[in-house]
Amino acid sequence: MSAVPKVTLSGGLEVCRVLNGMWQVSGAHGAVDRTRAVEAMQEYVDAGLTTFDMADIYGPAEEIFGQFNSKLKSGGNAVPALQSLTKYVPRPGPMERKVVEKALQRSMSRMQVDTLDCVQFHWWDYKDKRYLEALGHLSDLQQEGVIRELALTNFDTQRMEEITNKGIRISSNQVQYSLIDQRPAARMQQFCLDNNIQLLTYGTLAGGLLSERYLGKAEPNSRAELYTASLSKYKNVIDAWGGWSLFQDLLVTLETIAKRHDCSVASVATRYVLDRPAVGGVIVGCRLGVAGAGQHISDSLRSCSADLKLTEEDLAAIEAVTRRSRDLMELIGDCGDEYRS
Ligand SMILES: NC(=O)c1ccc[n+]([C@@H]2O[C@H](COP(=O)([O-])OP(=O)(O)OC[C@H]3O[C@@H](n4cnc5c(N)ncnc54)[C@H](OP(=O)(O)O)[C@@H]3O)[C@@H](O)[C@H]2O)c1
Repeated sequence: MSAVPKVTLSGGLEVCRVLNGMWQVSGAHGAVDRTRAVEAMQEYVDAGLTTFDMADIYGPAEEIFGQFNSKLKSGGNAVPALQSLTKYVPRPGPMERKVVEKALQRSMSRMQVDTLDCVQFHWWDYKDKRYLEALGHLSDLQQEGVIRELALTNFDTQRMEEITNKGIRISSNQVQYSLIDQRPAARMQQFCLDNNIQLLTYGTLAGGLLSERYLGKAEPNSRAELYTASLSKYKNVIDAWGGWSLFQDLLVTLETIAKRHDCSVASVATRYVLDRPAVGGVIVGCRLGVAGAGQHISDSLRSCSADLKLTEEDLAAIEAVTRRSRDLMELIGDCGDEYRS
């Protein structure tokens, strides 16, 4: 097995270029069997996919990670290093230091860790400037060694600039980035390149819609067809982007490319985003504990392997479809604006 490529964040933490996403165990994607979810994590770690992305608002995700982490450590054998990225997603309210500290303590206790590898901060309302206060405390806690990497999620370029100008050092911003949502390329990527900030991306597989499974399929619309929170979230993105018919054109193109490289459509979709400037890693959602979820591991490994190289011809074919889409930057705004209507 060849090693999974890594990227080093500005605070020194090395994370896999494909990260395991744990929103899928929040309960919004179907029932979660915690025991099976903990067991399923081993398969990812054995494959070298040792980086997990979670959040304080993802139901039992932090606890599932904690159980797995403690099980690994008590196993006696040499323990592979895990990287655990969580998110701090407070409701708007007072952001005194004790509030921030309490929230981090809760995550550490759930995750069964003494310090946090990475905290990605989310804020719901830019009109409420207390995000700067919260980030100031997080930055202090980073200096004190409680947090290794201080990061953001769903912040736009304007606020990234504002935060950076306050002297707060940010490692990464986690945003939606896929073949159908390329907003980060408009402004954010240049700011990230200029400031040594990595983009960690989600929605890159559109909840699984960007795969052979949906090629030639009638448009899914019902709740039964869009049976996870991801599927319904990204079906809405497809509708805004250009609709199901254009999406089918994209899938046909991706299938041709995938065949050329003897890989899957999902691997092409992931590789495409991994190759974008400033992208440090792609987060692939894992329905841990659901039968068959681990079957995607080999595709994830293939997508980040050095031997999968998209050619100029591949990129031109993709561009011939995507240029027929609507401009999501114009329609929605910069990254994260979808969370702030
Ligand atoms: N910061 C934020 O606001 C935010 C928002 C959303 C997500 N996230 C993060 O990003 C992660 C990813 O979540 P997402 O909602 O964006 O989902 P996603 O990664 O676009 O899609 C995940 C789904 O894609 C399918 N899939 C995975 N690999 C595949 C492959 N090789 N071939 C075919 N299908 C494949 C799986 O579906 P099946 O299980 O049905 O096979 C999986 O559940 C989350 O877990 C979370 O960590 C963050």
